[in-house]
Amino acid sequence: MELRYLRYFVAVVEEQSFTKAAERLFIAQPPLSRQIQNLENELGVQLFERGSRPLQTTTAGQFLYQHALKLLSNAEEVKSMTKRIGLIERTLTIGFVGSLLFGLLPRIIYLYRQQNPNLNIQLIELSTTEQIQALKEGRIDVGFGRLRISDPAVKRVLLRKERLVVAAHSSHPIAQRVEGVHLADLVDEKLFVYPNTPKPNFSSQLLNIFAEHSLSPQNIRELREIQLALGLVAAGEGLCVIPASADTIRFPHLVYIPILDSGAVSPIFITARAMDNSEDVQAIYDAVFQVYDLECIEYKKAPFQWGQAED
Ligand code: BEZ
Repeated sequence: MELRYLRYFVAVVEEQSFTKAAERLFIAQPPLSRQIQNLENELGVQLFERGSRPLQTTTAGQFLYQHALKLLSNAEEVKSMTKRIGLIERTLTIGFVGSLLFGLLPRIIYLYRQQNPNLNIQLIELSTTEQIQALKEGRIDVGFGRLRISDPAVKRVLLRKERLVVAAHSSHPIAQRVEGVHLADLVDEKLFVYPNTPKPNFSSQLLNIFAEHSLSPQNIRELREIQLALGLVAAGEGLCVIPASADTIRFPHLVYIPILDSGAVSPIFITARAMDNSEDVQAIYDAVFQVYDLECIEYKKAPFQWGQAED
């Protein structure tokens, strides 16, 4: 017995007329009469008194009507509860490197949250290397990092290359160079680098950039995190190179000066499990570019898929 036939039967009982029931159900009357006839044949009983006006149910019809109401209401409940459970239990866990928190990450996540109100979104700070392991173990679903780490189990797309800036105390001579400086201008300075987690990390990426310009800063001090480094710069202790979007971190007398060399950039990558083509992962990828549009950031959007061309 199909639920659809029960729905038709209930409409005929309540309207006491095939014509009115057909109108209520938005179907023609002949197929409605046929379906009721099929139902009677299937059950082997008569459900309506023949020739009655308005239409009356038989005793069997009345019994079926009472139970059909319960069955239809149960079916609706099961349908909506199943939908709700499906929505509530979907979780997307996102790993990110700390410096992204001072840039566009909060905006991207906030937009994504608004667009997916029923999704449980969790955020975990992890280095790029840790993100790869966490993806493979299923502890996160998406990673945002700064290192180009390859793994056959993981797909990766370059989102953009972010420019680097140098942080200095306003009394430092470099602070006057508002138009910008070159990496060569920083090589003899005391430089704070971060983080001091296992390499590769942002500090090793930065020292590689110096090395690619045949420069080797000698006075380097490694610190745990960006806020510590900038706090010490604000105390006049030295300089620190950071991604430009982290210039939202403010201390009195702290200024940020652009670094002009074309290679002075830090890439931002998104990663996910190679075979994960879920809508939630695609949707966060799309949210990144929606924020880029709002911020007028130029980009090239590649498909987020496994085995695409190397960046
Ligand atoms: C960005 O600044 O481009 C960015 C930050 C976090 C996640 C994705 C992109």
